[in-house]
This record gives sequence, C-alpha cells and structure tokens, in this order.
Amino acid sequence: MEATSDWFPTLRGAIMKPMNQLILVFSMGITAMAQNMSYGAENFYRSNNVTSQPINFPTQYRTTVAGNLFYLKDQNNNTAPAVVIGHPMGAVKEQSANLYATKLAEQGFTTVSIDLPFWGASMGEPRNAVLPDLYAEAFSAAVDYLGIQNITSVDRERIGGLGICGSGGFLISAAKLDPRLKAIATASMYDMGTLARQGLQNSQSVDQLKETIAEAAQQRWAEVDGGETQYTGGTLNHLIVNATPVEREFYEYYRTKRGEFVPVGSTPELTTHPTLSTYTKFVNFYPFSGIDTISPRPMLFIAGDQAHSRYFSQDAYSRAAEPKEFLSVPGAGHVDLYDRTELIPFQRLTEFFQANLA
Ligand SMILES: *[C@@H]1O[C@H](CO)[C@@H](O)[C@H](O)[C@H]1NC(C)=O
Ligand SMILES: *[C@@H]1O[C@H](CO)[C@@H](O)[C@H](O)[C@H]1NC(C)=O
Ligand SMILES: *[C@@H]1O[C@H](CO)[C@@H](O)[C@H](O)[C@H]1NC(C)=O
Ligand SMILES: *[C@@H]1O[C@H](CO)[C@@H](O)[C@H](O)[C@H]1NC(C)=O
Repeated sequence: MEATSDWFPTLRGAIMKPMNQLILVFSMGITAMAQNMSYGAENFYRSNNVTSQPINFPTQYRTTVAGNLFYLKDQNNNTAPAVVIGHPMGAVKEQSANLYATKLAEQGFTTVSIDLPFWGASMGEPRNAVLPDLYAEAFSAAVDYLGIQNITSVDRERIGGLGICGSGGFLISAAKLDPRLKAIATASMYDMGTLARQGLQNSQSVDQLKETIAEAAQQRWAEVDGGETQYTGGTLNHLIVNATPVEREFYEYYRTKRGEFVPVGSTPELTTHPTLSTYTKFVNFYPFSGIDTISPRPMLFIAGDQAHSRYFSQDAYSRAAEPKEFLSVPGAGHVDLYDRTELIPFQRLTEFFQANLA
C-alpha cells in the first residue's frame, strides 16, 4: 500500500491495476459515503434564462475542441462581453465549467465552457493524455471561436477567461501568450507543474520524482511494445478505509451523484485518471514563470480559506504584477468552489468581468 495519498500521488504504486482494485474492495471494504449537497451544491444547474448549445472549433494545430456556448435568451443580440471557462484537471466541461458558464450567462455574459484536449468530447488520442501546451491552446482556440462565430454578437476586445483547478494554470499559461484574453480569473487553482514535480504540499522528494519519471518511461516502452495504456492519479474509484481527507473530498464529488459525469466513449472507471506515460509532461510545465508579463491585464485568484490547494493561488498571486486580487472564500475547501453555489462568489466574478471587459 503506497504511503502517498494526495490527488495525484507519485506514480509509484499508484498505477491502476484492475486486480488490485478488486482486492482492495474485498479486503478493506467500501466505506459508503453519502453525497454532501450542502451550501447549494448544484453542479448540473440549468437556467431558464439561458440558451446553451454544443459547439466545436479548431485549435491552431487543426485539432478539434468541444464546448458549450451559453448566452441570455433575451439578450436583444447586443454585443456582450465573453468569458472562456475551463474545467478542473481530470474533469470535463459538465463538471463545474458549465455551472460557472451558466451563472455568468445569467448575468449577461456570452460564455464558452471547453473540454480540454484528450478529455470529454474534445479530440485527442490516447484519451486522458496530458499535454499542457495543448490544454492552454484550447483557451486561445475558444477566443478564435468567439471572435468569428455568428450565433451571438461578441466584441473581440471584450473576451476574458476563467480557469477552475488545473485549468487555472492552463489559462495563465495561455494568457501569457495571448493578450486577446483581457481579464483572467481562477478558482481553486492547481499548478499541475509544481504538483507533478513536488507532490501535494511538497510531499515528493527528487528521488521519488526520478522514480516517477523512470516509471513513465518504462510504461512508454510497454506501449510501443504493444502493451495497454495505464492510468494514474485522479480520484479513487472505491473509497478505501484509510482514504485521506483530500481523497474523500474528491471522491465525494467525482464518484457520487453530486458531480459524477461519464462522457461518451469513457467509462466510470477511467474518468479523472490521466495516462501514466504522459502524466510526466507536467514536469516541464511552469505556468507561473513570467506570470507578471500578463500585467496590466487584471487577475483575480479565488481560493477557499480551508482549501488544501490554497498555496497554489497564493504563489501565483505573489508572483503576478498589478492589477491583481486574492479573494479568500471563508469556510470553503478546494472542491467546494466546483459546485457549491452558496460559496462560489459569482457576484464578485460578475463585477470583475463587467469592470474589466467594459
Ligand atoms: C458538507 O460540506 C460542507 C462544505 O464543505 C462542510 O462544511 C460540512 O461539514 C459537510 N458536512 C458533512 C456531513 O460532511
Ligand atoms: C431570469 O430572468 C428574469 C426576467 O428578466 C429575472 O427576473 C430573473 O431574476 C432571472 N433569473 C436568474 C436566475 O437570473
Ligand atoms: C459566418 O457567416 C458567414 C456568412 O454566412 C459565413 O461565411 C462564415 O463562414 C460564418 N462563420 C462561421 C464561423 O460560421
Ligand atoms: C444575432 O445576430 C446575428 C446577425 O444578425 C444573427 O445571425 C444571430 O442569429 C443572432 N443571434 C441571436 C441569439 O439572436
């Protein structure tokens, strides 16, 4: 049994082998966990005031990104400011991103939620692969889409971005190279690069990292030799007795009716798990390096004061240049800001984008 227990533990011992999963279930038992729907948890919220439709658009590399477009039904087709919204790492647009997109559309924004490449309905093989540059590119591709589509009227000078969890880092990575993103907000941000290099809260040594890299390289050999794709990290498929609080927090969202969503072509067992041989691409991902160059475009970092991931937002905030704001949400943990509508500061997000996409 591995000692590490964070969301994306070191790959050592974390490879999903169906046999091991089975043994865990029988030897340790499954702790039933009731879904916690308090504080207005409403991941699958729909609004009567908002029209939504599925969309597809190309990246600069001719791959296709899937998304949803949201806008107010009675918008009178006036030019509205627009916001591109990215889902948590390992998730899909139906998890958290559609909720934020719907809530902001109610406030008069044209919004687009996207599936990151290799996830959900977006193109990319193998499924669940990691390639942070292409994840970032998907945000810029959504800006392209908004700027040329004919469904609503969007002003190219009034487009912003919002990234939840891992997408916070991917959006920052995109924004450094894409000044068409005029205002940047993140919620419960995860820096997947630092996580892959150092583990959660610096729990991984350099030797462990080297072991992780060696394991991914070994798996790469296995794959070119015709072996099956292996998966790593992500959310526990079965809640084991000694699951950590962080593991329980993710399980309670991703593996219960509260937030579970299985996109077409995937299975409940595979959701949230990146492929083992590509996960190490995050080791070369430094989203906060050069974050100050985003200035004078404004940045808003939102994190719960109870969130295990809060230090990622604090790090980004401290490195960013003005104008910047750190918004601390009292009583909120990391996953709370995915779907708990009474904790997510939609009003503040609305004000931020209204003021900065004016
Ligand atoms: C439900 O979630 C909220 C928000 O994270 C937390 O404050 C509360 O303690 C949880 N309740 C239970 C019974 O776990
Ligand atoms: C929906 O639109 C109606 C009419 O404009 C408005 O009164 C109501 O507050 C809106 N509801 C939401 C949730 O935005
Ligand atoms: C928008 O409409 C014009 C005219 O019908 C068409 O040529 C163009 O391809 C459309 N653009 C998109 C992105 O659909
Ligand atoms: C907005 O206006 C464009 C161009 O006039 C039109 O093609 C489109 O259908 C309108 N969209 C909505 C949502 O009314």
